[in-house]
Amino acid sequence: MKTLNLRFYPDPILRKKAEPIESCDDEIKELAEAMVATMYREKGIGLAAPQVGITQRLIVVLQMKDVEDNDAPPLALVNPRVVSVSKDLWSYEEGCLSIPGVNAAVHRPVRVEVEYMDLEGNLQRIVDEGILGRILLHEIDHLDGTLFIDYLSSAQKSLIKSQLRQLSEDYSSA
Ligand code: CO
Repeated sequence: MKTLNLRFYPDPILRKKAEPIESCDDEIKELAEAMVATMYREKGIGLAAPQVGITQRLIVVLQMKDVEDNDAPPLALVNPRVVSVSKDLWSYEEGCLSIPGVNAAVHRPVRVEVEYMDLEGNLQRIVDEGILGRILLHEIDHLDGTLFIDYLSSAQKSLIKSQLRQLSEDYSSA
């Protein structure tokens, strides 16, 4: 199975706004397949197209029922859009395949409603109050150039400062 190279912080492509996908053609299906294979290779639970250098609005996620649901089936979402979120938040430790070695607790809405197109071009909707909703918000953020580290408090940011500096050095020497 074809897999793709990951882009790492602070690659500027991670800060670009991704473009809407006009049709679910074979190219998009192949990209989704390769992204799922890449997510498995990296043992991730979600991946957004900009993380493999493609600024199109496509994400893949594991449809996890809870945080231990490791056999959850994968799902590809084309042009995903957050329709509504609850006011109440919950905090959970996040990481990102594009920011290796960095983890921090992020507050996100409990209830998430997302609309998207499946690979057959049908409009679909997911409502979730758990880890899946959190993964969706994290991945959809990638399509708008937002990273989970953007949400951290200054105290949290100071804790990961040296790791981010190291990633910047690795990036500029690559
Ligand atoms: Co990420």
